[in-house]
Amino acid sequence: MKRLEGKTAIITGAGAGIGEATAKLFAAQGAKLSLCDVAEEQLGKVVSDIKAEGAEVVPVRCNVADEGDVKNMISTTLEAFGKIDILINNAGITRDTLTPRMKEEDWNLVIDVNLKGSFLCAKYALAKMERGGKVVNTASIAVLGNKGQVNYSASKMGVIGMTRTLALEYARKKICVNCIAPGAIDTPMLQSVPEKMREAMIGKIPLGQAIAPVEIARAHLFLSSDEANFITGQTLFVDGGMSIGI
Ligand SMILES: NC(=O)c1ccc[n+]([C@@H]2O[C@H](COP(=O)([O-])OP(=O)(O)OC[C@H]3O[C@@H](n4cnc5c(N)ncnc54)[C@H](O)[C@@H]3O)[C@@H](O)[C@H]2O)c1
Repeated sequence: MKRLEGKTAIITGAGAGIGEATAKLFAAQGAKLSLCDVAEEQLGKVVSDIKAEGAEVVPVRCNVADEGDVKNMISTTLEAFGKIDILINNAGITRDTLTPRMKEEDWNLVIDVNLKGSFLCAKYALAKMERGGKVVNTASIAVLGNKGQVNYSASKMGVIGMTRTLALEYARKKICVNCIAPGAIDTPMLQSVPEKMREAMIGKIPLGQAIAPVEIARAHLFLSSDEANFITGQTLFVDGGMSIGI
């Protein structure tokens, strides 16, 4: 029995990295997928890979920080599949630099995409979500503090607060809202970190290596499945022990 048979899932930022890995795992587990990204060409490749495996999938060009785009993503999903069971709020960006050099526009952009974008997707997906629905948000190991990421760590700490509040507000509808906090995951986002810093980060992982995106996809799968029906408001660190070793 496939673990997401009969479920419809929206995954944001599905064109690369963790979102792509999650889309592929969810498709293999029987989910119907609405996949969103700003990078249409990248998303197109992921969608054709998944279609080739026989899964039902709809691509949507959507900037999660744009309310009109998010509303369109929700209505496109409902037109295609008639319901929404799962939202994986995965799209996220970094604009790293130390505080004295951080421009207001870099602060605003990161907060807009990571925090407001997650809020908008959650707000409009939850409004249409079935009883028993699941939302999985994305924080980061950076919530513990990371030099050069004042905007990013603040946005991700905001996501944790949002997760706890949404969990309380939607519990009466038996909808669970949780959050994953990835450590150093081997994706284009991690590749964009200067090599010296990347090596230093990986050196802090007790389990000894950067984590493959599929490991986060597996945590998404668990928190999106009926096996997690009584877990809500939680943040799960998937970080090879980095958060306890820091
Ligand atoms: N890679 C890591 O080490 C790591 C660590 C902690 C947390 N995270 C978080 O995990 C999530 C996924 O990260 P990743 O490493 O796979 O990133 P990535 O950069 O490899 O992929 C992110 C995807 O999101 C898309 N995207 C960016 N802005 C968007 C927007 N406004 N609207 C829609 N799509 C948008 C990008 O086009 C890209 O396809 C992010 O929220 C990130 O902050 C990653």
